[in-house]
Amino acid sequence: MTVAEFSDPAPGAAAVPTFWVRDVPICGELALAPMAGYTDKPYRSLCRRLGAAFVVTELISADGLLHASERTRQMLAFGDDERPLAIQLFGRDAALLEAAALEVEAFAPDFIDLNLGCSVPKVTKTGAGAGLLYDPANVGRIMARLTQAVKVPVTAKIRLGPEREILNYLEVARALEDNGAALITVHGRTRHQRYNEPADWDAIAAVKQAVHIPVVGNGDVHVVADIARMKAHTGCDAVMIGRAAQGYPWFFAYRDRSDVSWEERREMMLEHLEMMVAHYGPRHGVIHFRKHVVRYLRGVPTPRGWQVHLLSLERADEVEAQLRDPQIGRSG
Ligand SMILES: Cc1cc2nc3c(=O)[nH]c(=O)nc-3n(C[C@H](O)[C@H](O)[C@H](O)COP(=O)(O)O)c2cc1C
Repeated sequence: MTVAEFSDPAPGAAAVPTFWVRDVPICGELALAPMAGYTDKPYRSLCRRLGAAFVVTELISADGLLHASERTRQMLAFGDDERPLAIQLFGRDAALLEAAALEVEAFAPDFIDLNLGCSVPKVTKTGAGAGLLYDPANVGRIMARLTQAVKVPVTAKIRLGPEREILNYLEVARALEDNGAALITVHGRTRHQRYNEPADWDAIAAVKQAVHIPVVGNGDVHVVADIARMKAHTGCDAVMIGRAAQGYPWFFAYRDRSDVSWEERREMMLEHLEMMVAHYGPRHGVIHFRKHVVRYLRGVPTPRGWQVHLLSLERADEVEAQLRDPQIGRSG
């Protein structure tokens, strides 16, 4: 795989690199956020095709990798059409993270992303994810170890701090840069801030001022106009989109929900379903598709009880027949 092959811009993206993750060219300014349970191979592929400049896997446990389960293997699978792609790792122990990074490097991701932002108690109580933010010096040591161990660039995704009162993001960002990180994504919330509290874009701007490596801003981009607002406010090199892209890959084509017709939505859902079945198999493909379909259907008028019925179906042809029902998607 040559740089030229994997750096092909997504349709509609700039043909010349917008910025570089060390030696990996990134064409475009929108990234798909890692989202456990959502950003699997089929969905990353769709988002990349619609215009995402790079994509990130769901978070993958460094510990879990050592006893690689079938599920972990499935999470590590990706296609060349998804490049540039980062595999995201989480863990607490530097030696385990190093071993995991070496292992996933064999899958040839374009870069490896260290999760310093996950706030799920199951992860933070082990000291991983945002739990690592308590000790910026240790974050630096982990990054040094990773960057020395692997040849691909290593990046990190951070929150603003491990507690509301401990806003140490500048210290963490500098520790990451000083130890070889090639890019930092800043989710503008602390570990304890819930998603309904506004993200702090001033903090993202401060990180951008403090480091020389590319900075990706993340948090509270809901509509297409927010992309330009975040870029102007923070000066970030790219904007990472999470929830606004759930069931909505068109965000990467700079299209708001009202711009996409029912027919387009239906055809995308059917293609997505087919990809899910190919990736997970007939039964699990349909089951995993359920969480996507409810997002695609947000704002679409459907008869009472129909969605409950749709989500009870176990076969792809039954789901397809329902989505093709002429009654569905009509306004009024
Ligand atoms: C369902 C879900 C799963 C997530 N999983 C991850 C993850 O695996 N790794 C990670 O770094 N962040 C994860 N996040 C956080 C997102 O990447 C992102 O930082 C957050 O949603 C804020 O961006 P948004 O306002 O665009 O949604 C997750 C968020 C959601 C909603």
